[in-house]
Amino acid sequence: MKKLSPSILSADFNILGSQIETIRQSGADYLHIDVMDGAFVKSISYGMPLIKSIRKNTDLFFDVHLMINEPIRYIREFAECGADLINVHYEACSDITSTLEEIRKTGVKAGLTIKPGTDVSVLKEFIDKVDLILLMSVEPGFGGQKFIESTYTRLALLKAMVSCLDNPPEIEVDGGINLLNAKKVLDAGADVIVAGSSIFKGDLKENLDAFMNICRSV
Ligand code: DX5
Ligand code: ZN
Repeated sequence: MKKLSPSILSADFNILGSQIETIRQSGADYLHIDVMDGAFVKSISYGMPLIKSIRKNTDLFFDVHLMINEPIRYIREFAECGADLINVHYEACSDITSTLEEIRKTGVKAGLTIKPGTDVSVLKEFIDKVDLILLMSVEPGFGGQKFIESTYTRLALLKAMVSCLDNPPEIEVDGGINLLNAKKVLDAGADVIVAGSSIFKGDLKENLDAFMNICRSV
């Protein structure tokens, strides 16, 4: 079954706890947490204190997307705060193998992420060392952007690349996903879709139900 990872970047932080509970009740599989450092990407979002705080009230699977330079410096702290999976950017690590090893050492799942302009082929040497590959379908840094159509071709290339493995990593797609294109992204090979603005804009519960219906029907 396909998975949904709602991104709290577009949440209403005044009522974050209750919105996360609504997400849990919807049956969503993951909770996507975008960490931005103002250097690897333009914007700054939130970090360890937020993760630590929401961890106290939910057992949802925390899918942490680190948009920070040299994330190896902070892996242990994010794991201790409650991350279940840590995604690091290929473009942000000077030593990817050591960064992935550091994630594994902490006992959480390891994800490797590429920006829309990075060639899918760079992932080849790492696909057997990760639990998940995160394909960005917008430039990382902000929610509410338009889905980049070339993602479908990239997804097909990645799908072909992992198909030779006995235990292939999950493929997650992040950025610009809405109720109109979600099915197409899943049909093209995504195992997990991230959605932020299209989940939090309007009625949260209705949007979640609609996304979950699509994930269950594919
Ligand atoms: C963008 C983030 C995304 C973002 C997606 O840098 O990685 O996770 O929250 O937001 P939407 O779904 O609005 O494109
Ligand atoms: Zn993200």
